Amino acid sequence: MTPTATPLTLVVLISGSGTNLQALIHSIDAGRLAARIVAVISDRPSAGGLDRARRAGIAAEVIDHRDYGDRESFDAVLARCIDGHAPELVLLAGFMRILTERFVARYEGRMLNIHPSLLPDYRGLQTHQRALAAGEPYHGSSVHYVTADLDAGPVVAQARVPVHADDDPERLKARVQQAEHQLYPLVVDWIARGRLAWREGQAWLDDAPLEQPRIFDNEQLGAAF
Ligand code: GRF
Repeated sequence: MTPTATPLTLVVLISGSGTNLQALIHSIDAGRLAARIVAVISDRPSAGGLDRARRAGIAAEVIDHRDYGDRESFDAVLARCIDGHAPELVLLAGFMRILTERFVARYEGRMLNIHPSLLPDYRGLQTHQRALAAGEPYHGSSVHYVTADLDAGPVVAQARVPVHADDDPERLKARVQQAEHQLYPLVVDWIARGRLAWREGQAWLDDAPLEQPRIFDNEQLGAAF
């Protein structure tokens, strides 16, 4: 790995169990990701990821979406909280709120999401059920820059996993999550090391515009990381 002088600072937004957050924490601790998580923010007080953050000594904050009458006011408070930590990058990791255009524009090129499907297929919810119902041979997860259209920003990288004949949504989800726990830290590390950047509304990887996402199968992910 190329060393970097200062770790990339991250704020991670969550709503749930936070296994992706945990994977990021592990990767940082293991020296595979040159970053530092300066805060974790949840819109749900019950999010399991809050405990994961606290156990790792990371500031964990709750902005309860039920306390706000509309998206604009929630997003304004969220932005103030994020900016108070002055991160270089904002990561959505199972954050279940739809964000306003104004919020998304504020973090243009500085905000990534991980979505459990091979985008552009299966935007939205229930991706595992839908992929199974359609008889897909492959399913997976995508890391993309966040733009105003839900799950439609430029995709940087994808982890592809096979669908097995005896899969149910839970089994498939477990396989996808295992892959995304490697994929997300890998992509964030590309940014930390200056390999991936946002220039003039486009993702660039290794000094070339990224026309297609990098696709990894399971075994390649292990090797890449
Ligand atoms: C992940 O599968 C991610 O792709 C999706 O939400 C899930 C979050 O899981 N956006 P966790 O909270 O990280 O365990």
